[in-house]
Amino acid sequence: MKISENVSLKPLNTFGLDVKARYFVEIHKIEDLHAIFAHPKLRLLPRLVLGGGGNVLFTKDFEGMILKINLKGREILEENETKVIIKISAGEIWHDLVCWAIDQGFGGLENLSLIPGTVGAAPIQNIGAYGVELKDSLVSLQVYEITKGKLKNFSREACQLGYRDSIFKNEWQDQYIILSVLLILQKKNFILNTSYGMIQKELENMYVTQPTIKTISQAVINIRKSKLADPAKIGNGGSFFKNPTVMQQHYEKLISHYPDIISYPVSANQMKLAAGQLIEKCGWKGKRLGQTGVYEKQALVLVNYGGADGRQIYAFSEKIIKDVQEKFGITLEREVRVV
Ligand code: EPU
Repeated sequence: MKISENVSLKPLNTFGLDVKARYFVEIHKIEDLHAIFAHPKLRLLPRLVLGGGGNVLFTKDFEGMILKINLKGREILEENETKVIIKISAGEIWHDLVCWAIDQGFGGLENLSLIPGTVGAAPIQNIGAYGVELKDSLVSLQVYEITKGKLKNFSREACQLGYRDSIFKNEWQDQYIILSVLLILQKKNFILNTSYGMIQKELENMYVTQPTIKTISQAVINIRKSKLADPAKIGNGGSFFKNPTVMQQHYEKLISHYPDIISYPVSANQMKLAAGQLIEKCGWKGKRLGQTGVYEKQALVLVNYGGADGRQIYAFSEKIIKDVQEKFGITLEREVRVV
């Protein structure tokens, strides 16, 4: 295990922010974690665990240790005629896993195609897209418990997965390192989810009348490529904000002023709104300030046109939050982790 100093994180965060880590280490095996957390000095450093670096906004150099999780491997643990349980190590690339599952004929992940990042990062914010969340296939996960230096399993229920949320983002933030996840996938009787309007439309464009896991995956890939910014070409962290939930009363007031407001019921008296639409209605879509901007095809995505620093992107997001607050009385929450 090699600990490097003053390492540029530019290639390791999808915003492409040019910050440095005081210490940097790649984790290839569990023994690497034992070595770090048994070390009298290393164990006391501030630390940040990095997967694909797709959901973090660095606003300054990191004066601690970055642990880049590179644990690899996937195996079939159990299978019968209809289902399969697979174990995937945290450092595997999420989209590679989705492609592999589809090639094997395993269904359940197709709507989550092309989500950037690693498998270990997926449960932290319960990744979701086009009507499906990780929660729908997660069985359990294994973690490294930092204070005890021991491995521990969490059932899906114990992870408290919610909308872009889990216990690892809240009370247990930075206490555990996710090592692997167990997923249950379908081998037949696929539960295809094509309810999302954009998927239906894309399948029609593809002349697909009988969708399969493969064609749904392709439809999702086409939609994502047309709507979202590719981090390899333009720095971004996917959705920068979460979609907000408002009380029914608030919603009714909004709809009387803005009859075209998009909404989805989340409970008897709460509605979820599309943050992208609210931002767009404030006139921010496609706007640029220096090297920072709102993506022209999806207002929920903030981009680095090259050379922006994290503080500028943060300040830019503050302006958006303020405008949305003033116009709609809604405080947008950031989805990305600000460091
Ligand atoms: N919309 C606008 N203007 C915009 C963007 C969106 O009016 O600039 C409208 C769309 O027309 C649509 C509605 O808002 O009617 C919802 O848009 P979309 O389907 O693109 O999804 P989203 O709510 O903006 C969420 C996730 C995405 C995920 C998509 C598809 C969050 C924060 N984001 O975006 O996740 O891919 O749904 O399920 O929930 C991510 O987390 O990084 C991410 C990309």
